[in-house]
Amino acid sequence: MSSVENRIQELRRLIEHHNRRYHVLDDPEISDEAYDRLFRELRDLETAHPELVTPDSPTQRVGGKPVDEFGQVTHRQPMLSLDNAFNEEEALEFDRRVKRFLAIQSDIAYAVEPKLDGLGVEVVFEDGRLTVGSTRGDGEVGENVTANLTTIRTVPLRLRPGKTPWPERLEVRGEVFMKRGAFERLNRRQAEGSQKLFANPRNAAAGSLRQLDSSVTARRPLSVFFYGVGKLDTPPFRTHGDLLRHLAEWGLPTNPANQVAPDIQRAIALYRDLLARRHTLPYDSDGVVFKVNDLAYQHRLGEVSRHPRWAVAFKFPSEEGQTRVLRIQAQVGRTGVLTPVATLEPIRLGGATVSRATLHNQDEVDRKDVREGDWVTVRRAGDVIPEVVRVDFSRRPADTTAYRLPDTCPECAAAVQREEGEAVFRCTNFHCIAQVKERIRHYASRDAMDIEGIGDRFTDQLVAKGLLKDIPGLYRLTKDDFFHLDRMGDKLARNFLDAIQASKRRSADRFIFALGIRNVGSHLSLLLAQRYSSVESLLAAGADELQGVREVGPEVARSIRDFFDLPENLTLVRELLSLGVAPQPVPPPRATAISGKTFVLTGELTGLTREEAERRLREAGGRVTSTVSRKTDYVIVGAAPGSKARKAQQLGVKTLDEEALIKLLEMP
Ligand code: IVH
Repeated sequence: MSSVENRIQELRRLIEHHNRRYHVLDDPEISDEAYDRLFRELRDLETAHPELVTPDSPTQRVGGKPVDEFGQVTHRQPMLSLDNAFNEEEALEFDRRVKRFLAIQSDIAYAVEPKLDGLGVEVVFEDGRLTVGSTRGDGEVGENVTANLTTIRTVPLRLRPGKTPWPERLEVRGEVFMKRGAFERLNRRQAEGSQKLFANPRNAAAGSLRQLDSSVTARRPLSVFFYGVGKLDTPPFRTHGDLLRHLAEWGLPTNPANQVAPDIQRAIALYRDLLARRHTLPYDSDGVVFKVNDLAYQHRLGEVSRHPRWAVAFKFPSEEGQTRVLRIQAQVGRTGVLTPVATLEPIRLGGATVSRATLHNQDEVDRKDVREGDWVTVRRAGDVIPEVVRVDFSRRPADTTAYRLPDTCPECAAAVQREEGEAVFRCTNFHCIAQVKERIRHYASRDAMDIEGIGDRFTDQLVAKGLLKDIPGLYRLTKDDFFHLDRMGDKLARNFLDAIQASKRRSADRFIFALGIRNVGSHLSLLLAQRYSSVESLLAAGADELQGVREVGPEVARSIRDFFDLPENLTLVRELLSLGVAPQPVPPPRATAISGKTFVLTGELTGLTREEAERRLREAGGRVTSTVSRKTDYVIVGAAPGSKARKAQQLGVKTLDEEALIKLLEMP
């Protein structure tokens, strides 16, 4: 072999190694420039020696010439689809069916995997080299997307040798998808280039993979996890879990969130767990797949009408659906902001009935062109307020008109203004009845002064009857006032008065939060209360001084100053204090196992995202850095960790796995 050939092979090995470190392990060993140098050297050598270019060279990942249409690939073994279960009873019925068919009574172990919302693909390796990649298509015949699939950096062009030799021909199946973060970045890029936006990560993944010009695919941030194989003559594995471990060993990315449960009850428990944390996964998942873990059982179970008998997709309740906009109205918030809100024909989403959805602001209404009478897709994801995602223009009635927020406040008729550089419109009247109500509601809410029952049930009535005009008014209410309310008894009235009295001695952080200063949530309120031992000293703090408080930047400092510079707010605080409100000082933070400690994260976390783990560590007073040194207190080691885990060992830095991290975060 010539020395050029040797160098070319070395470069290919190095580049694939660094691809994996960067894209799979999230733990690069070399700088981007050093990587680019290797890549350029290889490309230049290949240009000088075109006879040495092979399809498995990393240079071929950048995409090739556009094609007019995709060729067809017939799957040797059809790619089946999954039967669905929509509730626990149907999942239990699946387990009973499996046992009946196998004629066994003992527990069946199930592999439990997030169902990825992307595009099914098959990739064939012959003698360890990638030869063909195709889409699932109709299950029998798919499209040949080899050139596109090889642009995905985590798809190995060659398998890595492991303890077990790979089969001569290996057909692996998996899902190409786009992580939510990547999807949002892609859409931002599309918007900047005035290109079409994708409706969701699934469409973006499908649209990106099925590109006739593979150099376009190469620029799209696609991911892939493999979860199965096609036909195998002599399977070297006994269970599905075993199969996945081998795929990973050969360098094929598998989902670290996959697990195995010893029986159906524990499989269902894993489903519930994934449902509860589906929004912390970095990708969209529309359910969980249960697969009989034992491959011999799988074989005996076989298939029926295009579905394997050995697997089921246990779907999450849908978070998106279509319904009609009955009305659009402006809602006035605590700070006077007008929010356009759609009243909807009620629809079940994510396990609850939704009849209102936010349209955020005028810019969003314009961008989506939502009108009264439209059919729209509504989304309710986790704790997020339901929102209108898009209009189905094909169902738009004939006589609709574009919606505009009013020029005057719908509640108090004062002028509405749009501030320079802001997306929002505000009612300019500090005494606007809607703002007053919302301010009182916020003041009394659970995380603020926690005056039970007042906020949700009686504020509107008290304000409407003129019994309550502002926050201090709460402390002037008498028993007689309460008797003007509907369904009010002596006991209930007493309870309210007691609750109001009790609120006088809430902690200072609750009081600061209750004031409703823009940009100051519970967390910052706590930091402020820890720094300022009296309300008076906070009132007197200048913007520069405020910026000395941990996590307070110029914008927050400005909001705080603006708030107290408004005479109405200053009066409010003074009045409350004179009425006997006595916020209790908050002791400075108690040292916890996290505060003041330095953390480095490496490898993939499954239970929470990297960002979330980092945020929570910072909230608990920890520092998160990216390089391991002797000063590092803990290295958090996820799945498939990188060199940082080794470095921690060398330096004798303590390492924690994900479970230990969670424990640490949950410690008081
Ligand atoms: S197993 C015969 N596992 O869902 C087994 N499929 O309707 C079928 N999918 O076409 C595939 N995540 O594209 C399996 N962890 C997972 C999956 C998964 C997503 C997709 C796949 C398939 C469809 C089944």
